[in-house]
Amino acid sequence: MEYPFNLFDLRGKVAAITGAARGIGAETARVLAAAGAKVAVLDLLEADGQAAVQRIEAEGGQAAFWKLDVSSEPEVGKVFGEIAARFGRLDVLVNNAGIDGVNAPTHELALAQWQRVMDVNVTGTFLCTKHAIPHLERAGGGSIVNVSSMYGIVGGPDVPPYHASKAAVRMMAKTDAMHPGYIRTPMLEEVAHASGQGEGLFAYLGSQAPMGRLGEPRDIAAGILYLVSDAARYVTGAELVIDGGYTAR
Ligand SMILES: NC(=O)c1ccc[n+]([C@@H]2O[C@H](COP(=O)([O-])OP(=O)(O)OC[C@H]3O[C@@H](n4cnc5c(N)ncnc54)[C@H](O)[C@@H]3O)[C@@H](O)[C@H]2O)c1
Repeated sequence: MEYPFNLFDLRGKVAAITGAARGIGAETARVLAAAGAKVAVLDLLEADGQAAVQRIEAEGGQAAFWKLDVSSEPEVGKVFGEIAARFGRLDVLVNNAGIDGVNAPTHELALAQWQRVMDVNVTGTFLCTKHAIPHLERAGGGSIVNVSSMYGIVGGPDVPPYHASKAAVRMMAKTDAMHPGYIRTPMLEEVAHASGQGEGLFAYLGSQAPMGRLGEPRDIAAGILYLVSDAARYVTGAELVIDGGYTAR
C-alpha cells in the first residue's frame, strides 16, 4: 500500500546550506536537492563548492554556489539577497558551517583562537539566521536547522572553545538543533592526520559509540531532510541527536 503523498517532497522549496562544499553540508545539499529543493551551496572553499554543485547537477538537481564567510555580516546580507533574487524565494536554512579550532587546553589558548571559533560557529549562525528570516517570512514560513554537536551536550577533554560554541548554538535554537556524533568528514580526517593516529583514531572514536562505528555524512543529512520536510511540520525547537548512541551511554 502506498501513502497518498511523499512527506519528504521538497519540490518548489529553496534551501541555503552553509559549509556545503564538503562533509556533512555537501551531503545535506545533495540529499535536499534529490528531494526536489533548489539548493544554495555556501562556503569559503570555492573549488570544492563548485564541485558540490556539479555533482548535484549531474544527479539531476538544481544548485548554485556562493563564496561566503558566515562571520561577515556584509557578505551574509548580500548573499542571502542574491539567493532570494536568483531562486525567487528562501524556505530552508541549514546553519552547518563550523570549525573545531585549536585543540589545546584553555590556559594555552590565544584569545584570537577562541574568538575565531566563536565568530564562525556562533556569530555565523546568528548572522545567517538574522538575514535569512525576512526571506523565510516572505515565503510564508520555513525551517532553520542549526548543526550543533554532541560536544554541545556533553563535556570532553579536547577543544574547549568548540564545546562552548556548540552549546551556544544549541541554546540559540528557537529552531531545531541537530547534534551529530563522530562523523567521518574532512574535519575529522584533519584531526586524525594532525594527531598522527590516522585510522587508529577512527577505530577508537568508532568504538566509543554503542553502534561501534563512526557515522557518515548521509546519516546526518537524512535527519536534516526530516526536520525541513513536511514530515516534521509539527516539530520546532527540538533537538535531534544522531550519534550512534554516544550520549546515551
Ligand atoms: N564531523 C563530525 O564528527 C562532527 C560532529 C559533530 C558536529 N559536527 C558539525 O557538523 C558541521 C559540519 O562539519 P563537517 O564535519 O562536515 O566539517 P568539514 O570541515 O568537513 O566541513 C565544514 C565546512 O564548513 C566550511 N566553513 C568553515 N568556516 C566557514 C566560514 N567561516 N564560512 C563559510 N563556510 C565555512 C568549510 O570550508 C567546510 O567546507 C560543523 O558545524 C561541525 O561542527 C561535525
